[in-house]
Amino acid sequence: MTSLLKQAEETLEKAHARINLRWYPRYHLAARAGWMNDPNGLVWFDGWYHAFYQHHPYSTKWGPMHWGHARSKDLVHWEHLPVALAPEGPADKDGCFSGSAVVDGDTLALIYTGHKFHGSADTDDNLYQVQCLATSRDGIHFERHGMVLDTPPGLHHFRDPKVWREGEFWYMVVGSRVGETGQVRLYRSADLRQWHDEGILAEAEEGMGYMWECPDFFSLNGSRVLMFSPQGLVAEGYQNRNLFQSGYLLGEWQPDQPFGHDGQFIEMDSGHDFYAPQSFLSPDGRRIVIGWLDMWESPMPEQQDGWAGMLSLPREVSLGENNRLMMKPIAEVAALRGSYFPVPAHCLNNQQVFVAAEAEAVELLLEWERSTSLAEQYGMVLGDGLRIYVDNQAQRLVLERNYPDFSLVGTRSIPLPEGNILSLRIFIDRSSVEVFVNEGEACLSSRIYPQPGVRDIMLFANSGTAALKEAGYWSLEK
Ligand code: FRU
Repeated sequence: MTSLLKQAEETLEKAHARINLRWYPRYHLAARAGWMNDPNGLVWFDGWYHAFYQHHPYSTKWGPMHWGHARSKDLVHWEHLPVALAPEGPADKDGCFSGSAVVDGDTLALIYTGHKFHGSADTDDNLYQVQCLATSRDGIHFERHGMVLDTPPGLHHFRDPKVWREGEFWYMVVGSRVGETGQVRLYRSADLRQWHDEGILAEAEEGMGYMWECPDFFSLNGSRVLMFSPQGLVAEGYQNRNLFQSGYLLGEWQPDQPFGHDGQFIEMDSGHDFYAPQSFLSPDGRRIVIGWLDMWESPMPEQQDGWAGMLSLPREVSLGENNRLMMKPIAEVAALRGSYFPVPAHCLNNQQVFVAAEAEAVELLLEWERSTSLAEQYGMVLGDGLRIYVDNQAQRLVLERNYPDFSLVGTRSIPLPEGNILSLRIFIDRSSVEVFVNEGEACLSSRIYPQPGVRDIMLFANSGTAALKEAGYWSLEK
């Protein structure tokens, strides 16, 4: 282990012992201490799922990026491993930025962005982002091979390589910025070392962003999904409300052919906090996506507790009717379920009903019958800061968080989907909520900050009745 990695380990060990656990996730992956952002290098290798992530071990704020590392047998129970990469230079002297992992024979290969300034770091003119390679036989200790792809002439922002195998070649997409236009560039290689420029795979049309981060390009039910995280989209009505977005374009692609798509960017998650998702294949062929359950420049109250940032639940994606991406929690999540507690009341009439005390790690199931639910608003509350409810006048499903002490106040919402039954699976952890609507038709993910002791779950119906076909919760245990 290099001295920088050793230093990171020693720091994390001490810092972990000091963190305040009040908002630390019970069943999501977060760093032992310090800062975390994007998931990186999601991969199945040698009998384990590996998750790496953008990590700053020395502070709860973003800084020189390392790659944190954890592994799991089921994507639900995680074991922390030593920090895998530190910005040791020269190619990555100012940070090991986001990237991906592939299995090449008996080797685990990480392809990531080396972030470096030539001269002072106060201007993008001095910024260079290059793609680097590191390999490992044991999946824990990595040999660094330095830069394998230089910044194209004239570019500065050129990052987040996602590599995959197709036919006899490796392919790689990289996010980039050309002036005020976001782009995804495509490369091809026989050996992960020499990369051939295959041109621009996709680029922003008017209003579609100045930088496209974290591209990912995969097949799904015969179509091709370009998933990415654009910066610079303007909020419009209920769309694009967060500082940056994550979503996808759907189309067709074959090697050596252009990516044909309809130009329609669709957001993947309608909550406050979901960014920089990355996908990978499970050994049984499922396409699974994990995102960062946070948003840039949004307050992160857990920083006062010695840590910051967490990852979403792993979500299995598929293509639904209307060619929309569906996301539902992977089946393994059910392994967390303890006892089921049914909610006795099945009809609420202008009232509140108590469901659970001190809900820290809970999966709540609510199946509302819409034809008989005429209340103006009906849904659930957690403590005094979270409400997830149907607004019958607006015909929307609303997630409202209200933590004025932390400047986290506001709503996100989606139109009510079709159908008489509105089925909600709501995953609550100590500082997060993820709502899966109708088996994955829509999803809303947000960070929440209830104080300990103020976490009871209630159901409510305001001005009218609301009817439940099924309602109950599982306490989730690790
Ligand atoms: C996305 C991102 C990536 C970059 C990384 C830096 O959240 O900005 O584009 O590689 O975070 O930590």
